[in-house]
Amino acid sequence: MSDEQTLPFASTLDVLATVVPAHLLKPRVGIVCGSGLSTLASSLRDVVEVPYSALEGFGKSTVVGHKSALAFGLLGRGTACPSWRCSDAQFHPYEGHKLSTVVYPIRVLARLGVQNLIITNAAGALRQDLAVGTIVVVQDHLALPNLTGPLNPLFGPLSSPDQPRFTPLSDAYSVALRRLAFRAAHELALDADALAEGVYAWVSGPTYETPAEGRMLRAAGAAVVGMSTVPEVVAARQEGMEVMVLSLVTNPVVIPDTYRSIKEEIEAELAGKPIAPPPETVVSHEDVLTVGREKAEVMKRLVARIIELLPTP
Ligand code: 6GU
Repeated sequence: MSDEQTLPFASTLDVLATVVPAHLLKPRVGIVCGSGLSTLASSLRDVVEVPYSALEGFGKSTVVGHKSALAFGLLGRGTACPSWRCSDAQFHPYEGHKLSTVVYPIRVLARLGVQNLIITNAAGALRQDLAVGTIVVVQDHLALPNLTGPLNPLFGPLSSPDQPRFTPLSDAYSVALRRLAFRAAHELALDADALAEGVYAWVSGPTYETPAEGRMLRAAGAAVVGMSTVPEVVAARQEGMEVMVLSLVTNPVVIPDTYRSIKEEIEAELAGKPIAPPPETVVSHEDVLTVGREKAEVMKRLVARIIELLPTP
């Protein structure tokens, strides 16, 4: 058996070459938009959107707040204007997609010539110093097998014969791109705490973390936790792209310092001294989308500035 996957690249690239004008077809930068951030595509000039349904090999995103289209367009100044492409929808394993489908758009981007990939996502904060609305420039990730099951997008045959079988990840998050993020934030005069940096923990979802899991991830050094991005990062590194990830904190992960003790409550009740129960807090997908929408403008300006700061080839 050949150690190579048969993926419909030829068909996908054919369709794109037919519907996307030539000046947009070789984007310098690829952008993946996370929850609530898909309005990034609306700030493109000459934008052309291709619905995923028109592209063989692309799954269908089923999550409210994620749009299933690929946008091509221009962003930036004058002739140095980079064209970039925005994958408006991420596919997630929890939607029932195989990881090879999840990362297929990334591999298509690589074949269009994209060398720099910016991935945005919504994430929960594990660190207490990360307020809702902070953008975390990811410096590393954590994808322990026990958190995601046996999930790795590089399982199975290679998608091209010239790819490495074993992809190093010790340098997955481009230092050059991360530097641009902080320089862009400075130039935009964003608050000093608008941008932070930290480790992203990937969990499969679609459940949010239990308090015990949140505590474990925090103890393991993660700053934020989410259900996306890491498969795309891994595939992009195998494809040889430079990668940056911006995680928008949409909510704190619920990690109470102590557990509500039912034993103590009942004993107090029986002794005639009832204790008031602590307030309940849970994460809601609606809150995640609301913060995403509110902060989309800052994220958009930041990404646009980062792209302008990219050295021209
Ligand atoms: Cl709290 N957890 C996970 N896994 N993903 C999230 C999140 C939390 N908040 C936004 N995305």
